[in-house]
Amino acid sequence: MTNWETADVLKSPMEICWQFDYDIEIDKLRNLYAKAKEAQWDAAKDIDWSLPIDPSRPLIDEGSFGFDKLPFMQRLSETQQESFRANVGAHRLSQFLHGEQGALMTAAALTHAVPDYEGKLYAATQTMDEARHVEVFERYVRKLARVYPMSPALKILIDDTLQADHWVKIAIGMNMVVEGLALGAFHNMRRATSCDLLRSILEGVLRDESRHVAFGNVYVGEAIGEMHDDDREDVAQFAFDALAAMVNATGGPKGTGRSMPDPGFREAVTDSGIDLGDFIDGMKEARELGLKPEMPPGAIHSFKDLMMPALVRVGAITARTRELFAEKDIPIYEDAARLESLEDSDTGASDFDRI
Ligand SMILES: [Fe+2]
Ligand SMILES: [Fe+2]
Repeated sequence: MTNWETADVLKSPMEICWQFDYDIEIDKLRNLYAKAKEAQWDAAKDIDWSLPIDPSRPLIDEGSFGFDKLPFMQRLSETQQESFRANVGAHRLSQFLHGEQGALMTAAALTHAVPDYEGKLYAATQTMDEARHVEVFERYVRKLARVYPMSPALKILIDDTLQADHWVKIAIGMNMVVEGLALGAFHNMRRATSCDLLRSILEGVLRDESRHVAFGNVYVGEAIGEMHDDDREDVAQFAFDALAAMVNATGGPKGTGRSMPDPGFREAVTDSGIDLGDFIDGMKEARELGLKPEMPPGAIHSFKDLMMPALVRVGAITARTRELFAEKDIPIYEDAARLESLEDSDTGASDFDRI
């Protein structure tokens, strides 16, 4: 029986498109589809779920996590610290789990809506990839602690993407913005984690994600190039609104602040036996001491290295929206070298192992 208490029903204005021309004309999409079929894996069989994990050890990127360095944390008991690490790890990975469910639905929406036959075939493979990602993260999060609620900022961003009226907006919101965010976080986490099980999950997911980012580039760029100016501006406005909302919620490329309250994170704090008021005072104390989370050297910056260059490259930032970005003091980064090194290219797999 469906549990309607945990369900959230949205309405979509999406246009759905049949395509009766079954000739494949977009070779790059044909190649991505062929690779996707060959690269399918089974989350239940191809991951060694018997690998031991220690939820109390820092499992994720310590550089950006950084709580261990706070004087407040050092004053807590060892049990509270261990419990906090496990719960905050589960909270963070729960965001990936919810994000993957969003990706599952946007990929299905792309299958409905894209106007080309080969685009539909490719989007169907991405739908299956995302189903697998939901499966692996759900299973891993439950080993750490429990599934925490979705952060409101991420929910708004994905809801806006799911409720967009054109497939290009869905591909921008998911394949460039949300997947840009995820791709950077997955790479940084894969490099830093002390957990072999998490690393093997991330390696499998990253292989799939490199195709998803490549799809955004090869297909969306062409579609935007062929658009009437008014439609292009409409899409560019969507890209601007999505990025501006994200900057508001996270502090964006310059800050690390959390301006939108996240009830799930608060639950992770109290589940660890830590008083919320004490935690907030501890964070304030750290700010006064000038302590901030820092990116470890070589880490990928999702906004600067992935999201922005992806949007610039496909033409989703216009002269008009450049001015809007300037007004909001949001920098535009155009160097796509890092992005290109992570995405599937025509010549073979991405070279993420070398990064
Ligand atoms: Fe995914
Ligand atoms: Fe994806």
